[in-house]
Amino acid sequence: MSLMLHRAPSSSTGRAGSLTAAQRRIQRRIHELGDWFQNLDLEGVPTAPQHFLGNYPQLKWRQIAPALPERLDGASVLDIGCNAGFYAFECKKRGAARVLGVDADSRYLEQARFAAEVLGLQVEFRRLSVYDVGQLGEQFDYVLFLGLFYHLRYPVYALDLVVNCVRQRLVFQSMLRGPDLAPGMQPAPDYDFWNREPFGQPGFPCLYFIEQCYASDPTNWWVPNRAAVEGLLRSAGLTIVAHPEPETWVCEPTSPPPAPGESIWHRELAGTL
Ligand SMILES: C[S@@+](CC[C@H](N)C(=O)[O-])C[C@H]1O[C@@H](n2cnc3c(N)ncnc32)[C@H](O)[C@@H]1O
Repeated sequence: MSLMLHRAPSSSTGRAGSLTAAQRRIQRRIHELGDWFQNLDLEGVPTAPQHFLGNYPQLKWRQIAPALPERLDGASVLDIGCNAGFYAFECKKRGAARVLGVDADSRYLEQARFAAEVLGLQVEFRRLSVYDVGQLGEQFDYVLFLGLFYHLRYPVYALDLVVNCVRQRLVFQSMLRGPDLAPGMQPAPDYDFWNREPFGQPGFPCLYFIEQCYASDPTNWWVPNRAAVEGLLRSAGLTIVAHPEPETWVCEPTSPPPAPGESIWHRELAGTL
């Protein structure tokens, strides 16, 4: 990339409202890289100033960040569905030793690599689907699985694969719809076959299937309610340790990961569940 990307303080904007030559180059490249989902601040130039959720995901991060250690020195981080790298960059700024961002869309990865260059942050970006995270063959201290669950046609399978990569903590975020948990509502150890009543209770765990589009997006497949997220996280072998904002959970592996061939997926295939 031939752009001159020397770091300049954000205050390098010349007269109010005007951009420096370096900022104009950054702005041009931002446009060349297509539509951005994440609004990053690249030397004072925003990448998605018109985001429909406001200053996203900065607003989300402000709520999630206090639930994570202020310093991540020495830690490894995997950001799955990293998009333009916003969360990966925030972890690197907290001192993480190694940060890997993966995404299925090379257009977003190009944005992420450009942003890393402008921000002067050493983050690795790789094209990889969440369904292939096992190919990495390693665990990470922190795994971020944010804004991706509901975009997957096989979300529960993906969650099981992701959990295998978690050494210390998983940070999970999903769009939620449907009623919140009813006070005191707990999953029963069993339900009688003839009792249909629990399924009609507001807040009973539910994944809503979207056959066509949601918000004009055909990749929105399964939208959980809160009880479904919390039940799925527990069922995937995690303990919820924090819930810093309505759509986000911080979890730790409850027990050591299952031995090879002993995961729920393998046991289901083997008929030994
Ligand atoms: C709604 S965005 C969320 C981005 C970011 N994690 C955040 O919360 O701001 C969903 C991201 O997941 C990526 N994605 C979609 N399907 C994927 C898959 N199968 N594996 C990895 N990434 C995927 C998309 O390309 C997109 O960058």
